[in-house]
Amino acid sequence: MRFQCSQKALDEASADVCVVFAWCGETPRGSALHRLLARRSEADAFRGDPGEMFLYHAPDSSASPRYLLVGLGPEARGNLESLRTAAAAVSRRVWRLRARTLAVQLPTGGPLRGAGADAVVQALAEGLMLGAFRFDAYRSAGSGDGKPLRRVEVLLRKQQRALVQQGLRRGVSYAHATNLARNLVMEPPSNLTPMRMAAIVRKEARRVGVACKVMRRAELGKRGMGGILGVSRGSVEEPCLIHLRYRPRRRAAKHVVLVGKGITFDSGGLSLKAPASMEAMKYDMGGAASVLAVMLALPELKVPVAVDGLLCMSENMPSGAAQKPGDVLRTYSGKTVEVTNTDAEGRLVLADGLAYGAQWKPDEIIDLATLTGGCVVALGPAGAGLMSNDDGLAQALLDAAGHAGEKLWRLPLYHEYLDMIRSPVADLKNSGARWGSAITAGLFLQEFVPSGMRWAHLDIAGPAFLDRPHGAFLKGATGAGVRTLLHHLEAS
Ligand code: BES
Ligand code: MN
Ligand code: ZN
Repeated sequence: MRFQCSQKALDEASADVCVVFAWCGETPRGSALHRLLARRSEADAFRGDPGEMFLYHAPDSSASPRYLLVGLGPEARGNLESLRTAAAAVSRRVWRLRARTLAVQLPTGGPLRGAGADAVVQALAEGLMLGAFRFDAYRSAGSGDGKPLRRVEVLLRKQQRALVQQGLRRGVSYAHATNLARNLVMEPPSNLTPMRMAAIVRKEARRVGVACKVMRRAELGKRGMGGILGVSRGSVEEPCLIHLRYRPRRRAAKHVVLVGKGITFDSGGLSLKAPASMEAMKYDMGGAASVLAVMLALPELKVPVAVDGLLCMSENMPSGAAQKPGDVLRTYSGKTVEVTNTDAEGRLVLADGLAYGAQWKPDEIIDLATLTGGCVVALGPAGAGLMSNDDGLAQALLDAAGHAGEKLWRLPLYHEYLDMIRSPVADLKNSGARWGSAITAGLFLQEFVPSGMRWAHLDIAGPAFLDRPHGAFLKGATGAGVRTLLHHLEAS
């Protein structure tokens, strides 16, 4: 999908479909569309509700474009996410119409006036690209129901070309990164194994100029990464820790480490999950996929921060070789963990990743993980849980999420719950009681971050994979956290 901008009026644009956004109750007065609609009684029924669309084809000339009037909902509650969501719906609609080129008149008005033209077109580009996402790799019929958009022309009112072009570029990068993560998460788990992920990462990292090192089983053993090794014991697939390294051309403003949970399939291990809970567990590598997507986008965005990404890759399977409840692991940090539930495997691989990343003494260390069902129960699919030992970092991430149109909600790290993960035989045990499980998981991770180091944990178990459409996304993978982290790193 290519984007360009011009100062044309709507009726001068040449495109298969011309899109006009409208707030609830607003008639786009004075526009070419308004003049056209004045002759159409059907348009009277158009209210501008979110998701509402009115397609108009001028009858007098077969060569003229079709016009698509798109509702944004009530202006008072509108924001960039309203536009992003509407743009995604447009993308899917024009796909079915087989339109290949689009002209878009930008919405104006209350909520978007303060945002800046760059942020508005960024949301537009993101919405169109997120809406155009298809995972068709395994469909034999091919994409018989239409074609994706090729070109989008953004119509500008006044001279703001440089700003708009920058916003479009950023929107394309953010959405491309998000869709990359979504593609990886959608892959069937037997195809996207830890070492297959490593092969993909190597290739993509080389393409964009990010350094990449893959630590395989033997090396994990030598380095004493007992967490990743313990989790992978029941699997025939080799685990690995993938290290990506990005350095800006100019002096770095700060140094950030990102750590992603990369369980390519979580059966629960010997503490086996029930079938319904296991069904979607290919998405348990969503944290690693999002960290990868962020790392690959940093060069083109010229982010002024030094960033290391660590992807903790393993399968969690039951077998005769699998780790058993009661086993004790020695993690990279030296701390020992009694495995009381093999299904609490995410924190075991992250323990090694966090302690490994912490050795570099970064200014911030942030992990992303589909970590607990408890977080899904608490927040549902709309938002991720945020836990942090630092109010400044927590606030920065909340702000970044707000700009990205992703939701984060801070959860507490109640110290008194540490009792729940004390073990009679080791330094810690890996699962607490049933209540507050998102928090005890966070407390467990915190044990592997040196005190005084700024750390945040994003539990993306809810928003990473949807079982029904939400916002700009249909069912399936969303690339949760990618745009929030890119905003956060770019704001540094
Ligand atoms: N990958 C799961 C968490 C999960 C659950 C993600 C549902 C997405 C949807 C994780 O490894 C897990 O199994 N967590 C357990 C921990 C428990 C055994 C302490 C959980 O949350 O039930
Ligand atoms: Mn699990
Ligand atoms: Zn898991």
